Amino acid sequence: MAATACVLGIETSCDETGIAIYHTEHGLLAHALHTQAAMHAEYGGVVPELASRDHIRRVVPLARQVLAEAGMAASELDAIAYTQGPGLAGALLVGASFAQGLAISLNKPLIGVHHLEGHLLSPLLCERPPAFPFVALLVSGGHSQLMRVAGLGRYELLGESLDDAAGEAFDKTAKLLGLGYPGGPAVAALAAEGRPDVVRLPRPMLDSGDFDMSFSGLKTAVVTAVAKLPEGDAADARQARADLARAFEDAVADVLVAKSLAAVAHCGAQRLVVAGGVGANRRLRARLGAEAERRGVEVYFPELQFCTDNGAMIALAGALRVSAARNDASGMAVRPRWPLSELAPVA
Ligand code: KG4
Ligand code: ZN
Repeated sequence: MAATACVLGIETSCDETGIAIYHTEHGLLAHALHTQAAMHAEYGGVVPELASRDHIRRVVPLARQVLAEAGMAASELDAIAYTQGPGLAGALLVGASFAQGLAISLNKPLIGVHHLEGHLLSPLLCERPPAFPFVALLVSGGHSQLMRVAGLGRYELLGESLDDAAGEAFDKTAKLLGLGYPGGPAVAALAAEGRPDVVRLPRPMLDSGDFDMSFSGLKTAVVTAVAKLPEGDAADARQARADLARAFEDAVADVLVAKSLAAVAHCGAQRLVVAGGVGANRRLRARLGAEAERRGVEVYFPELQFCTDNGAMIALAGALRVSAARNDASGMAVRPRWPLSELAPVA
């Protein structure tokens, strides 16, 4: 029987302050999120200094809120987890400092969580969580990766974007189309009014035979297509922009669907997990769902609220790590097959 753990998780790597409490037996006890999207929107992207200052304002009230929601005293927590990186240095420091202060005052362990591990594990927050092993498509603003996930902390990179991340391509396309920040939801909303196959954009590296991806050429194709758009705000100009947004969304979805299913086949896996902000894209979800079903592959998506950055995935990753460490400490365990590559670095 696995040791239980109840952990408060803090996410401040970019423009969302997320705090949550996860219990390995009872699941997510409480979570709260403040998004800074509106604050950064007028600058067209995240302003790191403003992000850090806003995290400072939010962490304490959000932590109080989740403790109240869970009906817990801080002293009942087993550990404090925080996003250690990757992310904006100043923003990370806010969460890290608060987490360390709290951990010292409570005399509890402090756990630094890798932001991408949080995303990778976020589908475990579903009511019907996937079992290990699975292939994960991790598509966020900073990363597009395919990983083979054998278990907690056992991640093998199968392929990744050689240039822009999928989310970055959405954000840049949004800018080119004169849409707001964050770009993904804005492009998706416009694409919903667009017609399929009116504009044709390239599907970079679709047939490269590996699991790497590239999205910067697609962005360049959007630049060229935007230059040809009719000007003004008349119905035909709006329709042309919507058709282009639709073409972009279809091109990204085509590449992600093809690469993900090829990776699943390569690994002989039965489960595909989708995580990261772009995983919130409804067209990608529908397309992946349909293609996976056709091939008898089970596909798991986090709830929309857990696709983008949140505290729940950090609390979850922290709790699973505390529980695993307790199991290790509580008795003898042997690993007959233990790859040297799975040793955690000491410093
Ligand atoms: O995982 P995330 O919240 O933050 C990072 O760790 O980067 O991902 C943010 C990215 C942004 O690029 C945003 O435009 C994209 O996810 N995104 C979407 C959608 N919602 C968020 N992209 C496409 N469709 C969406 N519905
Ligand atoms: Zn993220």
